[in-house]
Formats: sequence, C-alpha cells, structure tokens
Amino acid sequence: MGFPASGDQKYKFLIYGKTGWIGGLLGKICESQGIEYVYGSGRLEDRNSLASDLENVKPTHVFNAAGVTGRPNVDWCESHKVETIRTNVVGTLTLADLCRDKGLVLINYATGCIFEYDDKHTLGSGIGFKEEDTPNFIGSFYSKTKAMVEELLKNYENVCTLRVRMPISSDLNNPRNFITKISRYDKVVDIPNSMTILDELLPISIEMAKRNLTGIWNFTNPGVVSHNEILQMYKDYINPSYTWKNFNLEEQAKVIVAPRSNNELDASKLKTEFPELMSIKESLLHYVFKPNQKTPVA
Ligand SMILES: NC(=O)c1ccc[n+]([C@@H]2O[C@H](COP(=O)([O-])OP(=O)(O)OC[C@H]3O[C@@H](n4cnc5c(N)ncnc54)[C@H](OP(=O)(O)O)[C@@H]3O)[C@@H](O)[C@H]2O)c1
Repeated sequence: MGFPASGDQKYKFLIYGKTGWIGGLLGKICESQGIEYVYGSGRLEDRNSLASDLENVKPTHVFNAAGVTGRPNVDWCESHKVETIRTNVVGTLTLADLCRDKGLVLINYATGCIFEYDDKHTLGSGIGFKEEDTPNFIGSFYSKTKAMVEELLKNYENVCTLRVRMPISSDLNNPRNFITKISRYDKVVDIPNSMTILDELLPISIEMAKRNLTGIWNFTNPGVVSHNEILQMYKDYINPSYTWKNFNLEEQAKVIVAPRSNNELDASKLKTEFPELMSIKESLLHYVFKPNQKTPVA
C-alpha cells in the first residue's frame, strides 16, 4: 500500500504544529533518532506560505500536527465555526493538495472522535469501527469538520490519515494528557474507549512515513480502557490517596456544550503492519504508569 518505499534515502521532515503538543513531541523524536527536520512557518490557510515552506525546505515527507483543537476544549469550536473550518478543513486540504503536486506523502494527525457506539458496534462487544466505516458521530462541530475533511482527503492518494483518540503521554503534568485531564475533573464518566499512547505511537508514525504508507489508519492501541480503569491505575501507581466521583452522560451533558464521542476503533490494520504494537492496557503500564511510578504496587 502507498507510495514506493523510500529506501535508504536521507530523510528531511517538514512538520506543522511547532507549538502544539503532538508537533512538539514529533520534533523531540526526530532529534533522538537523528532525523533532519524543520518546522513549517506557514499558516495552513495561507497557500502561498505553505508553498514557500515546501520550496525552501525541500522535504522528503510532510507531517501535519497543526489543527484547531479549541481552548480550554473542543467546545470552543461551537462558537468559532469559521476559524475551525479555516484551519481544519480549508487548511488541511490546502496542505494535502500542495504535497500531492510535489509528490510528497503527508502524514496527517486526524481524529477517531468521528464515531460513536451504535447497534453494530455496541459498547463491550469488542467490535470496533474499521478504517472503511463511515463516520457516525457529528455531535460536535469539531468532529463534524474532521469527518468531512477525512472524507475529502480519501481522494488524495498521497495522504496518510491517522485517527488519533484521547491521546495519552508519559508526561503527567501536561494538561492536554487525557489522564491529567480526567484526574483533575470534579466528576468523570466511566466508558470504555480506544486511546492513543503517544510515546508508543508517534515513533510508529515516523516509521509509517519511512515506509510511505498512505490511506486511513485507526491510530490507537488495540482494545479499550475505561475512565475508571485508568484512574484506578493512577491511584495504584501515582497517588494512593486519590479518589474520584463518577457521573452519567446526562449529568455530563450539563457541564459541556457539545456531546463527546465514545467508541472502540478496530486497530487490527495497524497491528498487522506493526505486530509489536501493545494493547492499550499493556502500553499504559509500560509507557506511562511504570516509568512514573511513585508507590510500590501490591
Ligand atoms: N489532543 C487531542 O485530544 C487530539 C485528539 C485527537 C486528534 N488530535 C488532532 O491532532 C492534531 C494535533 O493536536 P495537538 O493536541 O497537538 O494540538 P495543539 O496542542 O492544540 O496544537 C495545535 C497546533 O496547530 C497549530 N495551528 C493551529 N492553527 C493553525 C494554522 N491555521 N496554521 C498553522 N498552524 C496552526 C498551532 O499553532 P499556533 O499556536 O501558532 O496557532 C499548534 O502548534 C490536531 O489536528 C488535533 O485535531 C488531537
């Protein structure tokens, strides 16, 4: 699948999202692997600025970790619809289009928050949404635009769409980290979900670029984990005095603007390409909780 493999050529990555969480981590991984990289200085909605970056940098691959995610959270997109479209739809398509003109693979960090459990993919069934399934969650404007752009990007044979979900990293001080977020909430729902352990999966995305893989990929660790299971690990490994309170989806709806997606993605395509990929619970322990362990676990 994808473009011809790059062989032993010297890589030069152009990365968008310098100031962002995923973009920042990508730069660090490139440094640790000795891969030459440059952060893009253009803005996604400004085609000329992106064309200049491509001309000046002459990359072998482009990574798009730029996007509007909303602050403090995706509810921001509900009241900033044009800004959301400008970057997440127009901007992403513009970058994909320019990369295609230059014959460059674009690794695009997208989202898996475009699905919700339904009759054929019920909670607890272990039947996850596959890459070819049509998005069924458009409850938030953020997800709606991400689903639209994914559909359009399917027509670009140079794009590798990575469906990231509820990203987690070993940096438990980062307020964007899903674990950090839910451990600070007053009340939290308890629903099993597919999630992405960035420490394990971002290096895999770099390997995907080297292999010139394209198309859509569920970019999560196999399996699901619930909020309570994560918080119990947090209590066991990090803070034994930690306690939390649950509430249900109806109560949650009162403290957020737009509904959130809950789903299981089928990660078997990624697991087939990368057999060493750990299940979500193994990866959580290996990459996050054990390295941060503060207490002996019984
Ligand atoms: N974090 C999550 O929960 C999550 C989950 C699933 C998928 N994703 C997706 O993964 C991607 C990266 O997420 P992240 O968490 O790393 O996001 P982030 O921390 O919010 O960073 C977003 C980055 O995008 C840049 N950016 C925004 N608008 C831009 C524009 N018009 N032109 C150029 N750069 C622009 C920002 O730069 P400035 O500060 O200069 O604007 C920033 O560097 C996003 O597309 C997001 O939708 C994230």
